[in-house]
Amino acid sequence: MSITFNRDNLKGFIVKKDWDKIVPELKKAHQALEKKKGLFKKSLGWLHLPSQIPDSFLEELQKLAREIQDHSEALLTIGIGGSYLGIRAAMDFLTDDHKLPVYYTGHHLSSDDLYRVLENLKEKRVTVTVISKSGTTTEPVLAFRVVKQFLKERYSQQQLKGRIICITDQKRGALRQIAEKEGYRTFPIPDDVGGRFSVLTSAGLVPLAIAGVDIQGFIEGARKAESEYTVMDVDQNSAYQYAASRYLLYKKKKGIEVLSIFYPNLFYLGEWWKQLFAESEGKDGQGVFPSSLVFTTDLHSLGQFLQQGTRNIFETFLLIDKLQRPITIPRQEEDFDGFNCVADKDLDFVNKKAYEATAMAHFEGGVPNMTIQLCQADALHLGHLFYFFEKAVAVSGCLLGINPFDQPGVEAYKKKMLRLLGKS
Ligand code: PA5
Repeated sequence: MSITFNRDNLKGFIVKKDWDKIVPELKKAHQALEKKKGLFKKSLGWLHLPSQIPDSFLEELQKLAREIQDHSEALLTIGIGGSYLGIRAAMDFLTDDHKLPVYYTGHHLSSDDLYRVLENLKEKRVTVTVISKSGTTTEPVLAFRVVKQFLKERYSQQQLKGRIICITDQKRGALRQIAEKEGYRTFPIPDDVGGRFSVLTSAGLVPLAIAGVDIQGFIEGARKAESEYTVMDVDQNSAYQYAASRYLLYKKKKGIEVLSIFYPNLFYLGEWWKQLFAESEGKDGQGVFPSSLVFTTDLHSLGQFLQQGTRNIFETFLLIDKLQRPITIPRQEEDFDGFNCVADKDLDFVNKKAYEATAMAHFEGGVPNMTIQLCQADALHLGHLFYFFEKAVAVSGCLLGINPFDQPGVEAYKKKMLRLLGKS
């Protein structure tokens, strides 16, 4: 099995009676998704997407990637939210896969940051992916204006056609119009796949392929997950177990979930996860507030709060079984620091003990916790994990009785900002 899910540390917080009650609700959620009921009808393109992606499409992307890698020294990718976080999470997770360095913009409105990115690219041959499902989001649209001007100072109109790729809605939006008018290459994001569920569509696959990620393995992992988490039997389906556990804890006044990660390069995976869960669940006055921490760093700051602060938190640990780079702790003749007890062991051995100790201490301190463990940090497992969380959040939204696929709350600030900017 590619990932394992352990919920031993929920003991006493969730009892058998709770499980017995939730199983029929899970079945209803399963049916609602599989039968594409009601509100969900037009938002379920992600559900069986991995098995529907033709291998020929992945081969086409790999060919395009080789072509771009030959004439580029960097990839600049423009996008925000679901058009940004999955790519960044994958790039940081798969540190060994990079063929081109990737720069990011369009996920903020900081002129200093954009300036610095362009300074770094001044002397480099660059290809740009502009990703926006709607094609109208302020941050990436404005960044694209600036980046286009930057590119026009360096390349002819004809050369730009080979250096700008637009990934957007099949028919609608300003980005689609610009791409068609200027003759840029385009890839569609399916209408029935929401932004935060789009990492397995062209929105994720195109930039990841260009950067050198093993997209075949990535989709293979997602396909495995799709078949594993389509099984209704809750005992067999860990995505359903995770969704149900979260829901039951929420009903017991545990309104905050912390995703605790033991590897700094998984920071953006935490950011992707937060967007997925916050935008999917946080509505109608409901939902678990998702936050993420990087341990052991954060054990020296927020760890105090987790251990002894307000008891409204539960925790999900994310672990990787086998790391790629072993580092042996040297033995020292004079054991001044007293750590010869772990000499000749791998540093990851200590990290795992830190996890065990934290899970135990937090459980005893009143923080129920679960653990998701991946065999290793490769494209296969990442594809699997992305799908695991997508399936879990969809079911979790159904249990809450909300629509997990819209995000009406995001519009409130946008409307006010656009009015202030005088945009019609
Ligand atoms: O999940 C969503 O739909 C959003 O968070 C979007 O990903 C985000 O707002 C970016 O939208 P777009 O890709 O349309 O620019």
